[in-house]
Amino acid sequence: MTVSDHRAAVLAGLGTCLPRPVVSNADLALAVPTSDEWIRSRTGIAARRRLPPTADVHDLALAAAANALAATDGEPVDALVLATSTPKRPLPGGAPEIAHRLGLGPVPAFDLQAMCSGFVYALATATGLISGGVARRVLVVAAEAYSRIVDPQDRGTAVIFGDGAGAVVLRAGAPDEPGAVLALDLGSDGSARDLIHLPGSSPYLAMEGRQVYRHAVDRLAASALAVIKDCGWTAEQVDTLVPHQANARIIEAVAQRLALPAERAVCAIAEVGNTAAASIPLALAEAVDAGALQPGHRTVLTAFGGGLTWGSAALRWPTVRSVRSEL
Ligand code: COA
Repeated sequence: MTVSDHRAAVLAGLGTCLPRPVVSNADLALAVPTSDEWIRSRTGIAARRRLPPTADVHDLALAAAANALAATDGEPVDALVLATSTPKRPLPGGAPEIAHRLGLGPVPAFDLQAMCSGFVYALATATGLISGGVARRVLVVAAEAYSRIVDPQDRGTAVIFGDGAGAVVLRAGAPDEPGAVLALDLGSDGSARDLIHLPGSSPYLAMEGRQVYRHAVDRLAASALAVIKDCGWTAEQVDTLVPHQANARIIEAVAQRLALPAERAVCAIAEVGNTAAASIPLALAEAVDAGALQPGHRTVLTAFGGGLTWGSAALRWPTVRSVRSEL
């Protein structure tokens, strides 16, 4: 395909999938010394989803991907990027399996690991594939099963993380179309890699919650501002901010840093917790269905995760369908 400087990546469909069972704060309080009141007031989380033992992260990814495809006009996709930090197995990557199970044919398919920033990194990668002429239509899938790496006895992490998946289809289009990715910002800081990591000595995730909190607010706000500036917008012109759903207090703090009214920052964490890479597409679906995200809105997605990694994307929200299901 010819490489075009003017070929934009345009959002064309959105799909999500959440597993069952639902695990409430009260359920968790049976296993660890915590309380519904503590969890709600410190994180904004009331419940999270957990993959049943009979399913794996690929089942979630597949369902979200199929839903995103169903939300489009059915044109075939010609590349698939899977963002996950909780893969079913160390190798091979899951993306070729998802592509095969979807019947996409021999399309390029690969995994991307940027922890909770994975969706924005994958969106940027897909944008590059499209604008570079490598692909015309890319399926970006973010799927996570943190329940498989969180210690159920660790109240610092068990209360926060949940399982889920979200996916979008990006297609080649014009930069002035609604849905065109207008600006991207990505970054990392490996010096703080141990703040959220899997220690070799344990199968479970270790997190320095308080330090992560501080970095998250700084990086989310700075990265969001970078794309706002690149678009020639001011922060007050942003209609909808869709931050990584790490903690409701982090979302509020980021909105404050940007001097945005709190209601313009989507907070959809209450029923799903922090679903890592899947959190932004899940929050997008919630916002679309609640009518908070409307066509034409100046929209900024901003993510932060272990690594450390962070990233943001800006677009004008298009008229787009969202298809959801449960597993
Ligand atoms: N239930 C009850 N008490 C808890 C608790 C829980 N689940 N977790 C911690 N505590 C206690 C601590 O032991 C501590 O008690 P102490 O004062 O007697 O020592 C107290 O609550 C405060 O702990 P602290 O860790 O300072 O709480 P916090 O306000 O920072 O909240 C997090 C903890 C994890 C909710 C918060 O730091 C956070 O959300 N961090 C970011 C995490 C994140 O977003 N990770 C993913 C990034 S992609």
